[in-house]
Amino acid sequence: PPINSVYNISDFEHISKEILTPNAWAYYSSAADDEFSLRENHYAYSRIFFHPKVLTDVQNVDISTEMLGSKVDAPFYCSAAAQARLGHPDGEISIARGCGRENIIQMISSSSSNTFDEILDAARPDQPQWFQLYVLPDRSFSYKMIDKCKLRGIKGIFVTVDTALLGRREKDMRFRMFDNDNDDLETESLAKEKDPIMSFKDPGLTWDDIRKFKQATDIPIVIKGVQRVDDVLLAIENNIDGVVLSNHGGRQLDFSRAPIEVLADVNKVLKQKNLENKIEIYIDGGVRRGSDVIKALCLGAKGVGLGRAFLYANSCYGEKGVVKAIRMLKEEMTLDMKLLGVSNISQLTPELLDLRRLQGG
Ligand code: FNR
Repeated sequence: PPINSVYNISDFEHISKEILTPNAWAYYSSAADDEFSLRENHYAYSRIFFHPKVLTDVQNVDISTEMLGSKVDAPFYCSAAAQARLGHPDGEISIARGCGRENIIQMISSSSSNTFDEILDAARPDQPQWFQLYVLPDRSFSYKMIDKCKLRGIKGIFVTVDTALLGRREKDMRFRMFDNDNDDLETESLAKEKDPIMSFKDPGLTWDDIRKFKQATDIPIVIKGVQRVDDVLLAIENNIDGVVLSNHGGRQLDFSRAPIEVLADVNKVLKQKNLENKIEIYIDGGVRRGSDVIKALCLGAKGVGLGRAFLYANSCYGEKGVVKAIRMLKEEMTLDMKLLGVSNISQLTPELLDLRRLQGG
């Protein structure tokens, strides 16, 4: 269908289901076990309501902000999502270009289908980009990548810490069974060959590694996949620059909580302890609307990541789709902030939210 028939982020998902190969659809859409966390990530946002202010002069609304020191046009970013080429021949290249045109940040996945250099070369010279690091058992590879990030001007390194092992994604497994017509074991090893992430895990990763990464570079280090308040406090103790509250889009531990709920807890504790400015809090999972982004910012998030949304937009329309996704989210945010009675990001506070349904169960 023509791109002007797309009105919101979910439209990209519906179109993707029709146009993607069964392989790509299974890989992108799948989540762990019974996919409760996948659904909760999204539904939890629907348990938060607004208390809008009136008569506040909202003629001019500014949604620009700064993340890890980079100025960006909107407080959301494209989160690392592997294998963009499964959905579109331009792969991560068109995502880099789309993000560059709209001045938002692309987090480049360790498991991208294009090479790191290809993706960086596709960006504007001054375009801020982040790198997502999967830590391999051989740490020398991690340090090599950190050096490469420095060389290429990467503005943030996001170490993914929720993938000690890969979650059971049955949609994906079923497809592979069907595809390979093999017995269990062979399918397993075949899947390992096909999917680089399978071998990109080190269950031996600890805080000690994170401290060493931090010492090895002056690029901000962020831990992606934090799910508890006390782990945020540990990150602060270790002088880490940021955390992403994330359950990997529901793809790892099923029944891990929706990140927006965790954020509400984190926000309360950081305020009590006066630690709000000690670390940048990011969040991802289930975000499909500008209003979702606003809710997360009201609860203290610095930025909000979207994974599948950009994979789907890119699969359907390449760079144009990415640009359209960003513009729709910017427009939704701007409209909702006007209706909420606020003119800029710094005015987004928890007082604008009604959290009774979120916290009442
Ligand atoms: C991911 N995600 C991910 N995360 C990461 O750190 N490295 C990676 O390579 C990938 N790859 C990946 C592939 C696919 C197909 C998906 C759907 C997700 C997780 C991603 O960064 C993010 O945490 C979630 O996608 C956020 O949830 P939503 O926005 O997809 O609901």
